[in-house]
Amino acid sequence: MRPTQIPKTYRVKSFGCQMNVYDGERMAELLAEQGITAAPEGEEADLVVLNTCHIREKAAEKVYSDIGRLRRDDGSSPLIAVAGCVAQAEGDEIMARAPAVKMVVGPQAYHRLPEMIREATEGKRVTDTDMPAETKFDALPRRRRSGPAAFLTVQEGCDKFCTYCVVPYTRGAEVSRPHADLIDEAKRLVDAGAREITLLGQNVNAWYGEDAKGRKVGLDGLIRELAEIPDLARIRYTTSHPNDMTEGLITAHGEVAKLMPFLHLPVQAGNDRVLKAMNRSHTAESYLKILDRVRAVRPDIALSGDFIVGFPGETDAEFEDTLALVDTVRYAQCFSFKYSPRAGTPAATMEDQIPLAVMDERLQRLQAALLRDQFAFNTASVGKTCDVLVERKGKHPGQWVGKSPWLQSVHFTGDVAIGDIVTVELSEAIANSISARLLSPVTA
Ligand code: 5AD
Ligand code: SF4
Repeated sequence: MRPTQIPKTYRVKSFGCQMNVYDGERMAELLAEQGITAAPEGEEADLVVLNTCHIREKAAEKVYSDIGRLRRDDGSSPLIAVAGCVAQAEGDEIMARAPAVKMVVGPQAYHRLPEMIREATEGKRVTDTDMPAETKFDALPRRRRSGPAAFLTVQEGCDKFCTYCVVPYTRGAEVSRPHADLIDEAKRLVDAGAREITLLGQNVNAWYGEDAKGRKVGLDGLIRELAEIPDLARIRYTTSHPNDMTEGLITAHGEVAKLMPFLHLPVQAGNDRVLKAMNRSHTAESYLKILDRVRAVRPDIALSGDFIVGFPGETDAEFEDTLALVDTVRYAQCFSFKYSPRAGTPAATMEDQIPLAVMDERLQRLQAALLRDQFAFNTASVGKTCDVLVERKGKHPGQWVGKSPWLQSVHFTGDVAIGDIVTVELSEAIANSISARLLSPVTA
């Protein structure tokens, strides 16, 4: 493509968290509205958007290798835009290091992409990492398409400033989207085919707003109202912070049938000195108390968390406290990471950074414990009857894949269609998923 041509096809590649997946979908909708169509699978796109993640080192490295891979044999490249959190944090560096990149756009500015594309096709290289007062959500096209399981960003940014984390710098301060906009977007997603909506936010349970009657509501209020949408069958939310786990939200887990029995509540570490150094503002005990309260109202809840091993100064004994916490909780699934120093965060310059070999060993031990518990959780599910939302075809002929209420991947064969909610009996736990037997055809 010559630089003066407006692109005809696009591809958006999202890295990292589900909020990036959501942003990637919204960018795709925005490009489609400009008459740019999705490039067919396997074909080169005129415009490639790399929607990046900056949370750990490897994520940023992937971006540079992707840019390299987009180079054609003659040395030219498609029109490349780098979006997302690496764009926000390292925009100038990307422009200097990767001449093939023509646009750098931050997570709060991507509604301006059409304008940027026009400028880029005039031969300019454009950066927009503003956090503008106007919200991108108002400028984005209305939702018209959805798969059966949809994401809906309700809150962005973070004011917690955990000392290891770049999010408060890349995504900015905590902002809640207005209640009415969210109800509207949820209804549109359901009209477009969504049966399940996952509410997203860096601190989703810090969401607050005002309902149509002017009453102040928290995330539990929003969930209760969304549960009134007749064709919406399931509601989830992620990611939560322990400090925002209100009584109302915990109660909702016991009362709102459409709220799925799954809670992702990162703890990061099991030792109070480390938690304090991380600026987590909760202790291991206060975290465990929250889980007890949730389990009291919803005994079958599946628990999930995030962990960081090798935070600066973490001793062997302190790491053992993390393993002990895992033994106490028995998570259904978890994410765990080696600490990665992020420029500009307080922890990056703390003394006593932990050697890589030590982090490797700790991560292996932690992941072995987490896998043990995940497998135990899945094995304990065998024999249960539950609903599954059919999300896609499986690898084998006639096979379908969906999610159980506890967010397990379930596969089975039978006469069903994507978007159906069917009843199955869970029959065998296999590593990361569960095979099942279809009991009834469509139940909803
Ligand atoms: N190093 C390693 N892991 C990190 N996370 C956030 N920042 C870092 C970092 N600097 C992890 C946390 C968080 C998840 C999204 O990513 O566990 O909950
Ligand atoms: Fe990062 Fe902590 Fe905010 Fe989560 S709560 S986004 S880990 S600063």
